[in-house]
Amino acid sequence: MGYAEIYDRALRDPESFWGEAAGAIHWDAPWEKVLDDSGAPFYRWFPGGRLNTCYNALDRHVDAGRGDQPAVIYDSPVTGTKRSIRYREMRDEVALFAGALARLGVGKGDRVIIYMPMVPEALISMLACARIGAVHSVVFGGFSAHELAARIDDARPRVVVAGSCGIEPSRVVPYKPMLDRAIEQAEHKPEHCIILQRPQGPATMVPGRDLEWSEALVGAEPQGCVSVAATDPLYILYTSGTTGRPKGVVRDNGGHAVALQWSMEHVYGVKPGEVYWAASDVGWVVGHSYIVYGPLLHGCTTIVYEGKPVGTPDPGAFWRVIAEHGVSVMFTAPTAFRAIKKEDPRAEYLARHDLTGFRALFLAGERCDPDTLNWAAAMLDRPVIDHWWQTETGWPIAGNFLGIERLPVKPGSAGRPVPGYDVCILDDQGDEVPAGTMGRIMLRLPMPPGCLLTLWNNDRRFREAYLDHIPGYYLTGDSGYLDEDSDLYVMGRIDDTINVAGHRLSSGAMEEILAAHPAVAECAVIAVADDLKGSLPLGLVVVKSGVTQEPDDLCRELVAKVRDEIGPVAAFRKVVVVDRLPKTRSGKILRGVMRRIADNEAYQTPATIDDPAILDEIRTRLRTIGYANVSADGEV
Ligand code: COA
Ligand code: AMP
Repeated sequence: MGYAEIYDRALRDPESFWGEAAGAIHWDAPWEKVLDDSGAPFYRWFPGGRLNTCYNALDRHVDAGRGDQPAVIYDSPVTGTKRSIRYREMRDEVALFAGALARLGVGKGDRVIIYMPMVPEALISMLACARIGAVHSVVFGGFSAHELAARIDDARPRVVVAGSCGIEPSRVVPYKPMLDRAIEQAEHKPEHCIILQRPQGPATMVPGRDLEWSEALVGAEPQGCVSVAATDPLYILYTSGTTGRPKGVVRDNGGHAVALQWSMEHVYGVKPGEVYWAASDVGWVVGHSYIVYGPLLHGCTTIVYEGKPVGTPDPGAFWRVIAEHGVSVMFTAPTAFRAIKKEDPRAEYLARHDLTGFRALFLAGERCDPDTLNWAAAMLDRPVIDHWWQTETGWPIAGNFLGIERLPVKPGSAGRPVPGYDVCILDDQGDEVPAGTMGRIMLRLPMPPGCLLTLWNNDRRFREAYLDHIPGYYLTGDSGYLDEDSDLYVMGRIDDTINVAGHRLSSGAMEEILAAHPAVAECAVIAVADDLKGSLPLGLVVVKSGVTQEPDDLCRELVAKVRDEIGPVAAFRKVVVVDRLPKTRSGKILRGVMRRIADNEAYQTPATIDDPAILDEIRTRLRTIGYANVSADGEV
């Protein structure tokens, strides 16, 4: 069957389609119904079914004879370490760590926050939670204590598992002091912390609360897999919303396992036993789905890479990993390839490695500019596939289908809708627009298995943020269009979030931090184009009257404040003081126009602007920090 036929079948008869796909998963008890729509717009997949995700990711492969196959290859150029963990060893290490958690009182439904660098113990912690039915919530290491505290208060974990430090090429990042500060700030106090001591930056323990990883394992009883309901939560993953309060995306066990296993075979076209590498971080959804669960559910070998695309030690790092570990299919963000292209434009490092078994590169996380895609395809001489999805869906919404049919790649497009997703482009009134016309990208309900169930403890916010805009549809938050062939073009976000190096961040949260400074009267944060990271945040602030602080000094303070409260990952480095912000007569700040001015794009002065002269002032100020180098009429 080709793509078109499979796509039609999945939409026409989702129950038979996904019921059949679920046959690839081991169930402890069969489901009563494939799809329960009785609580629409809340849908549940496989109600009545029981399974264990960790069993499906590890034990069943050992039982089926894959015990000696590497499950995880840890490759860490920043520490000079390599380690291969076979499926049998992984199962045993996970079972033992699950015993350590159980001994601290963690059981089914309890939450565990994981704040770890890219080490195998991060995967072991996640799978150990899944094994005993606990709900993990992984927090990316580049987030600050403040962000970690917000997640602790929302998820209310019994235990936090953390690394003592992360290792960035330029420095060791102590995680433990960040964790201590977060617990101090949070209202909810976890009972225990388990700390993986790393020799590069050992942590100081809090007696009575903290245990070292090795200590936690002593005398722990290996745990078996607890059978959970298909609809029970497997994890919570926080993603940036339009305000400082992150949204806790909740994923189930059953639908998730079915969707990820299906995607490994049909989207990525990999077979059990092959090596699949997602160069991302376990703190992001890409890490959850395609470093941990997808490859392991499918019986592949996954790679945990603790390094960067460049500088660890050179722009040939990715090629070395592919060649050395026999990677068949790789997934990363376009930013990584922009970084490689910048340092090695002729891909001279590529020629030093044998990539014979490498079949395809998938890119996602941000819009992929055609230049980067074309460059990667020319250098690699293999399919380079842009595909689109988000934390909420957990797996691709649009892409190409190496396991079904390789469709023509159109640079600039994220491919065709994935079977199970009914992708629609709607205008503000909720009407479908013709092919080629931009609009909001919406998904007609129900979404396929694997997508978010709700937001943690907040069904209301889930409805308001995603479902209430146009009844019967899920709002992706992206804008774009479908062409005549149903190829999708994702052009950008329609909310106050921005994408920096493939990471979704909240410009609204950055504005809240700037606005809280005593010298700031009002502010705006916009995303400006960046050659490497796709976009970068830029702050514009209006100072309160009577403030005498030097603007440069204030800007430095604001940069430090955002770094402290969100984390280095925000890459917030530029702020400029302006006299006024452009607004409509009803007081809405014209962020879009400022962004266009900064990026030298053509724009029209909105008819509703209260004072058009402000735009010239903004342009003048932006020039002082290297933006807006072209005048409105296109002259430099
Ligand atoms: N723990 C602590 N700090 C971290 C961190 C972590 N896990 N990850 C990143 N940081 C810090 C970095 O050290 C950097 O700090 P700095 O401001 O002091 O330099 C900051 O957060 C920004 O990091 P990063 O986005 O990695 O930028 P970079 O300039 O260090 O590297 C790239 C640029 C292109 C090499 C890098 O962005 C990259 O590898 N991108 C790939 C994209 C990717 O993996 N996306 C995931 C979604 S698929
Ligand atoms: P996150 O949930 O952090 O992974 O961010 C998801 C968002 O990143 C999407 O909603 C898009 O805005 C953007 N994104 C991800 N992949 C793509 C892509 N292939 N093309 C364009 N934008 C993308």
